[in-house]
Amino acid sequence: MINRLKLLPFLVSLLLGLHRSAADVGTATSYSPPYLPTACYGGDASQFPSNNFFAAAGDGIWDNSAACGRLYLVKCLSSTVPRACADGQPPILVKIVDHASALVSPPSHGGATMVLSDAAFRAITNSSAGQITQINIDFTHSKKV
Ligand SMILES: *[C@@H]1O[C@H](CO)[C@@H](O)[C@H](O)[C@H]1NC(C)=O
Repeated sequence: MINRLKLLPFLVSLLLGLHRSAADVGTATSYSPPYLPTACYGGDASQFPSNNFFAAAGDGIWDNSAACGRLYLVKCLSSTVPRACADGQPPILVKIVDHASALVSPPSHGGATMVLSDAAFRAITNSSAGQITQINIDFTHSKKV
């Protein structure tokens, strides 16, 4: 009973938080290893999510390093390459671990909203569509764990 009462405000704020954040539209590119060191966590590889869905923030969302650790729901919208977005692909959750302009390994294309890890980029694009260097994305700041 006590536990449930403590949990309720937390759940309510979580729901409100998720509802308040509106989706934005931007661009995404990708980058390959080496991924370390990162602008957020230095040489600490334990900060990478186990599914390797992480990203470097472009200047538009970097927020003077406040973006470190933020989670974004990212969905592939379109690309100049036809069928680059896999049909029916659900959005993926990515964690910001780095700053795009400070990457050890430069991105496939400059100036993007976010630069996705190879694993994250592959998860939302269709590799059979050909060489994809940049996609348009729909992204939502998620307050989820
Ligand atoms: C991936 O691209 C190929 C080539 O354009 C297309 O035939 C296929 O249907 C696409 N797959 C998905 C899941 O969108």
